[in-house]
Amino acid sequence: MAGITEIIIQAMWLMLPAYIANPTAVVFGGGTPIDFGKNWKDGKRILGDGKTFRGLVGGTACGVIIGIIQMKYAPFGFLGGFTLLAIFSLSFGALLGDMIKSFFKRRLGFNRGMKMPLIDQLDFVAGAWVLTYLLEPEWFSANFTFWIIVVILVLTPVLHRLTNIAGYYMKLKKEPW
Ligand code: CTP
Ligand code: MG
Repeated sequence: MAGITEIIIQAMWLMLPAYIANPTAVVFGGGTPIDFGKNWKDGKRILGDGKTFRGLVGGTACGVIIGIIQMKYAPFGFLGGFTLLAIFSLSFGALLGDMIKSFFKRRLGFNRGMKMPLIDQLDFVAGAWVLTYLLEPEWFSANFTFWIIVVILVLTPVLHRLTNIAGYYMKLKKEPW
């Protein structure tokens, strides 16, 4: 088994496109909401004003750009390296997971921005993994090994909290979560 430091570095490296896509969606967000302001059958918004086209496209684009830079400058011989499809699925999947979370949040009666501990922090990880598993199953299994997954599940909520507190003080986010 590789050392813990090596596993942490690998885990962060693999997740970087998703880790970038999520906060840059906040930076680029605004404008037309993806649900076009429409309500679901329950009279509540389908997704809410917190999910916009600009956020989705801007966040995905930033994740992909980071991934392409990583592909070019990969310093790790031990990593299989990214594929373009994997980079896209990690970035877009992250925001898709966040959107699916919002859909269920609205159905449960949580208004936009209301806090759902752990779910708000791991929605994008789940989305990135599921989409990547569907689009690049072999790449996924080769790279997301058991200990990498454990490290990501433990460290993501911590990183997410820190990023959102920073975003809140930079006045990019309305809530510090
Ligand atoms: N954002 C966006 N488009 C996305 C994702 C995020 O425009 N696809 C922007 C929105 O301005 C949003 C902010 O990033 O308010 C924070 O994102 P998030 O915490 O995911 O949304 P919330 O506003 O908290 O809404 P929800 O309760 O649905 O999670
Ligand atoms: Mg939120």
